[in-house]
Amino acid sequence: MTAPKPPRKLYIKTYGCQMNVYDSGRIADLLAPHGYAASDTPDDADMVVLNTCHIREKAVEKVYSELGRLRPLQQDKAARGGRMMVAVAGCVAQAEGAELQRRAPMVDIVVGAQAYHRLPELIAKAAREGGHALDTEFPAIDKFDSLPATASAPGVSAFLTVQEGCDKFCTFCVVPYTRGAEYSRPVAKIADEARHLVSLGVREVTLLGQNVNAFHGEGPDGRPWGLGRLIRHLADIKDLARIRYTTSHPRDMDDDLIAAHADVPQLMPFLHLPVQSGSDAVLEAMNRQHTADDYRRIINKIRDARPDIVLSSDFIVGFPGETDRDFADTMGLVREIGFVQAYSFKYSPRPGTPAAAARKQVPEAVKAERLDELLALLRVQQEAFWRSCVGRTMDVLFERKGRYAGQLVGRSPFLQGVHADAPESLIGQIAPVRIEEARTNSLLGALVSPCHGEAA
Ligand code: SAH
Ligand code: SF4
Ligand code: F3S
Repeated sequence: MTAPKPPRKLYIKTYGCQMNVYDSGRIADLLAPHGYAASDTPDDADMVVLNTCHIREKAVEKVYSELGRLRPLQQDKAARGGRMMVAVAGCVAQAEGAELQRRAPMVDIVVGAQAYHRLPELIAKAAREGGHALDTEFPAIDKFDSLPATASAPGVSAFLTVQEGCDKFCTFCVVPYTRGAEYSRPVAKIADEARHLVSLGVREVTLLGQNVNAFHGEGPDGRPWGLGRLIRHLADIKDLARIRYTTSHPRDMDDDLIAAHADVPQLMPFLHLPVQSGSDAVLEAMNRQHTADDYRRIINKIRDARPDIVLSSDFIVGFPGETDRDFADTMGLVREIGFVQAYSFKYSPRPGTPAAAARKQVPEAVKAERLDELLALLRVQQEAFWRSCVGRTMDVLFERKGRYAGQLVGRSPFLQGVHADAPESLIGQIAPVRIEEARTNSLLGALVSPCHGEAA
């Protein structure tokens, strides 16, 4: 009799956006039937996957320095007669391709974001030839069809990719090059995946896409459905309590999607809608295809549909040609809209994108100053909103145990972390919590009616 083989150790390190987080989960699901069990450290791993991001500068350098840290571990393993295979996946893999293996021969596999369903094959190839494998194609078949269903318990809240790629070509952005053309999954497949997640205990899904509201997947009627219609369809799934979506583009905020914010109670009143700049000249140079006023009009419509909506955005400061006046317009828009949260970045020239070749690059010091100013304003607005939550009662979806005994951590409708004393039986449940204190990154509260479960 042969003893069962011990599982092979898989370590995945994820950089970048939520789509990479989703992809890393799927890579683990894909490799599990091949005997790989996920581990928290790269020590002694049989397989290491770096799932990379290319969005801002130093992305490539970060990957090479991570490879530098892995090298001694890989050599150690080889000295003991084993093999640590290293795969670079995601957007840097897509952008750099074979160059990665030329610069770092320790990399066994390079696999792009649209090809990772082929990893088992690539692993076999790299193992067989003791050499290398590369796949950065954009295959025409639905990658998602080749992925197994999620096997592990994903927790209370899960990501679900519904759309990939981008055709918008903002002049600063690498995504259309690394993720390829826009593609939407068919509605039936998304609904199947959502139902499957719910059967594993998921109560909240966040629909993902680089341009999630450009979604136009084939509906059960054979016609393209927009995101609003998809959300209404998913809202019929029993026990799916909350739906969110990210990241959206202002141009694709159509009336049906806005109406869904009014009609679908499961759709949470928190919207991440990147505007990038408040200056029309900069928006034009960015090829965003909307003005600051277009953005204001969209926000007004959304607020009419859902008055309590909380807004979040992305900003780029120091885009080529951005003047003090342009930047002042951005600050003005931030105040006017009252964003309570944002991801703000200094413009980072990306090789191969049109803006990188622009002559009027903004000096680093000016970018840094503007970023500080913007961050300070956003902090003030965020703190004011969080303080305004104290005294309110909010529905909290409890996700997991907190750091202290008897405490659970959940999320408010506005995506804030909320800590409250509550019985473990409330994990996966929604309960009203009265907010008592706002800390820097979380709210503290008390269950309004602690009569659920064993605490009764
Ligand atoms: N599709 C989304 C954004 C996806 S990229 C949209 O259209 O808004 C995520 C964020 O990274 C962008 O919103 C932008 O703020 C930032 N970003 C992208 N390229 C950048 C660059 N070259 N320099 C700085 N920030 C960048
Ligand atoms: Fe990048 Fe978003 Fe513009 Fe597409 S729409 S190019 S993902 S910033
Ligand atoms: Fe980064 Fe690729 Fe996402 S470049 S932000 S990981 S789409």
